[in-house]
Amino acid sequence: MSILNILRYPDPRLHKVAKPVTVFDERIKTLVADMAETMYDAPGVGLAASQVDVHEQVIVIDTTEDRSELRAYINPEIIWASPEMKVYDEGCLSVPGVYDGVERHAEVKVRAFDADGKEFELQADGLLAVCIQHEMDHLKGKVFVEYLSPLKRNRIKAKMIKEERELARANKQRVGQR
Ligand code: NI
Repeated sequence: MSILNILRYPDPRLHKVAKPVTVFDERIKTLVADMAETMYDAPGVGLAASQVDVHEQVIVIDTTEDRSELRAYINPEIIWASPEMKVYDEGCLSVPGVYDGVERHAEVKVRAFDADGKEFELQADGLLAVCIQHEMDHLKGKVFVEYLSPLKRNRIKAKMIKEERELARANKQRVGQR
């Protein structure tokens, strides 16, 4: 297993639309295992393949604190969504340090395949429902900050670009010291 590099907003690759998985083979199992390791290492509760620059419909989620409910959602589809909406403060591994409220369906029913290609259905509420909708947005090329006002989004974009520049400078200095 290996830890994958997570793309940071506003990387344009985060806006690519993911294609469905057609072959469930060892490559998909390895991708799911690597994504899970990357998510736990970050640490986070969900990760979409789009965030590691793989543009296929693969998501991993584990919202438990003891890491006991890891699940892969491949080619996920929302087959039912509650009319009731809820606002939840969301964060994203591609936008570290930024949290803001997004309104989503309070409950959803999802149909997807696991890493073995077995189809399943799952009804979720609470954090899991939020997470499923957030990660499915990634597969469509959408990052949660796009729900925020243009003013907030531009501020976040500027902050991320500044941090990126500082990170690059720090890395360069570290290399120079060797
Ligand atoms: Ni995210």
